[in-house]
Amino acid sequence: MAKQEAVRVVGLSKWFGDFQALKDVNLTVSHGERVVICGPSGSGKSTLIRCVNTLEDHDDGEIIISGVKIGENPSSDKKALAEVGMVFQQFNLFPHLTILENLTLGPIKSRGISKADAERLAMKYLERVRIPDQAHKRPSGLSGGQQQRVAIARSLCMEPKIMLFDEPTSALDPEMIAEVLDVIVDLANEGMTMICVTHEMGFAKQAADRMVFMDGGEIIETGSPDAFFTAPETDRCKRFLDQILRH
Ligand SMILES: Nc1ncnc2c1ncn2[C@@H]1O[C@H](COP(=O)(O)OP(=O)(O)OP(=O)(O)O)[C@@H](O)[C@H]1O
Ligand SMILES: [Mg+2]
Repeated sequence: MAKQEAVRVVGLSKWFGDFQALKDVNLTVSHGERVVICGPSGSGKSTLIRCVNTLEDHDDGEIIISGVKIGENPSSDKKALAEVGMVFQQFNLFPHLTILENLTLGPIKSRGISKADAERLAMKYLERVRIPDQAHKRPSGLSGGQQQRVAIARSLCMEPKIMLFDEPTSALDPEMIAEVLDVIVDLANEGMTMICVTHEMGFAKQAADRMVFMDGGEIIETGSPDAFFTAPETDRCKRFLDQILRH
């Protein structure tokens, strides 16, 4: 396997009972590459990225992260998975903790960092997501866009090399989408490897190196944003783009 591969998914299949949610999915993402995944509801986008960081088990196929085949050795799995951060549609912040406490919890507990160092790290990433002034508030005192930026900062505090985003802006009011996407674009420009499920096609055009279109548990089409948006190869992809670009 080439060293520069961040994530490689080989022949991945996943069933929920009798229903096959992923069908022989193959995807390789290089270090520094930004991949945007889109596709209709139920096409398996979340399942795919949840399998990548083992939030879901898979039934067939392989997941390889930075050269480590997941599922063979618990200690190498742990090390490889520590490189992967994830941001969900819902922010999942602890409501009873301040923003700073939300951010320092992971580093103190699972990375063994001192409280002072964890707070320095947290402030660094709060600055990165442009809300250092919110550090001492509780999540309920922040807007949705600010809470999602905290969730991104929380993930960055674990110093991941690969970020997975699952529709990070779809729970936000429209006026807050841009502030979150701007932060993700900043990360992309800094060279973060990312796999982002989103239907924000303006963002995709701006930030993606490669588009992936899923339907029915399969990757139907991949391509550069230019080719993908101007000349999709399949009817299914054309129809999907027509629908979402109309809005
Ligand atoms: N825990 C589960 N149990 C049973 N079926 C599931 C489960 N999670 C997902 N599925 C099914 O698997 C399919 C893929 O779901 P998934 O959440 O990956 O789709 P998606 O592409 O992310 O959709 P959306 O755009 O709505 O988020 C769907 O048909 C869904 O109903
Ligand atoms: Mg989903």
